[in-house]
Amino acid sequence: MKIYLTSFILFLMLFVFACSDVDQSNSDLPPIQPNPNGDSELALLMREMFDDGMRMKEQIESGDKLEVLAKFEKIHTAQATEPEKAASKKYKLYADAYLNMLEQLKVSSEKDTEILFQGLVESCMNCHRAMCPGPMVRIKKLYLKK
Ligand code: HEC
Repeated sequence: MKIYLTSFILFLMLFVFACSDVDQSNSDLPPIQPNPNGDSELALLMREMFDDGMRMKEQIESGDKLEVLAKFEKIHTAQATEPEKAASKKYKLYADAYLNMLEQLKVSSEKDTEILFQGLVESCMNCHRAMCPGPMVRIKKLYLKK
């Protein structure tokens, strides 16, 4: 009985933490592990997408040539904390919108880079606004300053 209760509580915590995001970036403390059950494949991919966004932002702001890596197709297949969310039609459409922006950024001429990059960040925000608002505070940091 006790075991069932413990797993039930852990299970609940998984849902509570899945889309929450404590803003840790202004702190000197080591990052908090937000998910006691280990992070989903999708959560890890998202962190990689964020880091890659930061890398591109820095390239743009320092006037370097932008390198766009196309390695985030896994957004469609990575195991999510809440699998039914990632299986929805809505999620798939937002995911395609994001991959499209990434592709546009890759093939477009340099003069369009800034506007397309803002659009890329917007495509992250659109999905998050609709499905997973917690990390939006962090994602906003990707926008180029105007
Ligand atoms: C198609 C919808 C969608 C798009 C597009 C999307 N996300 Fe996410 N994101 C999610 C979902 C769903 C989760 C929750 C993942 C989980 O817990 O399994 C998430 C989680 C996150 C997290 C929290 C990860 C953690 O540490 O738990 C961050 C940060 C994040 N996304 C950043 C981004 C960035 C940056 C982009 C754009 C480059 C982006 N997301 C695009 C749906 C999306």
